[in-house]
Order: sequence, then structure tokens, then C-alpha cells
Amino acid sequence: MRIISVLASPHGLKGNTAVLLRHVLDGAKAEDAQTEIIVLKGDTVLSCRACDTCHKKGRCVQKDDFESMKETIMAADGLVLASPNYIFNVSAQLKAFMDRCCGAIHCMEFWGKYGASVVTSGGGDEKAIVDYMNHFLTISGAVPVGGVWASMADMSEGVFSENVQKDAHSLGSRLVKAFRSGEVPVDVDLVRKKFRERMRGLVDYRKEEWPYEYAYWKEKLGE
Ligand SMILES: Cc1cc2nc3c(=O)[nH]c(=O)nc-3n(C[C@H](O)[C@H](O)[C@H](O)COP(=O)(O)O)c2cc1C
Repeated sequence: MRIISVLASPHGLKGNTAVLLRHVLDGAKAEDAQTEIIVLKGDTVLSCRACDTCHKKGRCVQKDDFESMKETIMAADGLVLASPNYIFNVSAQLKAFMDRCCGAIHCMEFWGKYGASVVTSGGGDEKAIVDYMNHFLTISGAVPVGGVWASMADMSEGVFSENVQKDAHSLGSRLVKAFRSGEVPVDVDLVRKKFRERMRGLVDYRKEEWPYEYAYWKEKLGE
């Protein structure tokens, strides 16, 4: 299994989120997965301009790292999202990436991939953010297997508590095992199916304006 992680923190590989993410990836590597981290510090994936070109043509017009990043993700089996808690939400860096995936979401292009989410914070409130990130994975077509989170109360001198390390490691291992088994939890399956109907209806309704997405649904998904 090949896993791409999107680490969306200006602290990059030196931050708290990177420390927690690495425990997750160690768990995946222990199951023989290959892993890669893409760091989003804020200047490589710009905000969505809402021009609708991705819906019309399947590509973004902005000249930054998004399209090559998407290609890397498309070639992988797993996607792990990692963000610090910024004011009760994902970082602006991760939100910019999510917004740029609007076309991918319409087509649920990450179908077949498995994912997980990682959040660190100064003082708490991480679970709702992990849930949001996993919902993003679900509506992109992927199957989230869970999340891990921790605050600075769980960290001492740059090292997370053993419990947090264990949770993170087992999340990585669970991700690989779920991918290998192909299991899809009933709740994820339900949300995906409902969202798929919604996107199919939306793209059908906008077929004149969004020829790329209409062709995608018709040809790639046979619908
Ligand atoms: C702009 C900004 C907003 C933040 N907002 C919150 C917050 O709402 N709640 C919280 O507990 N921590 C908050 N923090 C703290 C970070 O979530 C925390 O330090 C995190 O572990 C940083 O991860 P990193 O080192 O990977 O960047 C904030 C930090 C920054 C810079």
C-alpha cells in the first residue's frame, strides 16, 4: 500500500503535527506500507478562485503545486490528512487544499482509497476537526478508518505520551489492514452512496456548464 500524507502546518516537519503524523506512518510502515509526506506551508497551494474551470475542464488554471499533488494522491492507495487546530478548525493551508479539491469531490475521484486524519492542538477541541477531515475524505470517495488527536497536555519535551503514540501507531496499522481487506464500514458506505446520488444529480443538472464532470460520470462511472 502506498500512502500520501498532507501535512498542513507552517511548522512543517518540525511541528507537533509532524511528530504525531510520524507515529501514524510508523504504524503503517510496520505493515509494509510505503509512505510519503507532502508539506503544505501556505505558499504552494493557493486558495480556490471559484472560476469553475475544474468543473468545466478537469484541471485548475492556477500555476502552483495543486495539480501535481493531486496526481501523486491519485496514484496512491491511502491519504492521511494532518493539521493543527487553528481556531477550532483545520489550518488555512489544509482548507485551501480541500477547496481546490471541489472538482474531485463532485466526481468523488478518491473512490477506492483509504484514509485517516491527524490533529494536534494547544489545548483541545480536536475531535470535531478530525470528524470534519474524515467527512472530507468520505465525500471525496475515500474510506476513512479513523483519526488520532492530541494536545500539548499530552506532550513533554517534544514527545507524546505513550498512550497517544500507541493510538497513532495502531491507526496507521488499521489503515493498511482496512485497505488490504477492502472493508467499508456501513456508516461510511451510507454517506458515500447518498452523496454520490447528490453529486450525480448536481452534475447532471449542470451538464451544459460542466462538460468535464458530466463526461466523467458518464464514462468513468458508467452512469
Ligand atoms: C493561528 C493559530 C491558531 C490556533 N488556534 C488554536 C485553537 O483554537 N485551539 C487550540 O487548542 N490551539 C490552537 N493553536 C495551537 C496549535 O493548534 C498547536 O500549537 C499545534 O500543535 C501546532 O501544530 P504544528 O506545530 O504542527 O503547527 C493555534 C495556533 C495558531 C498558530
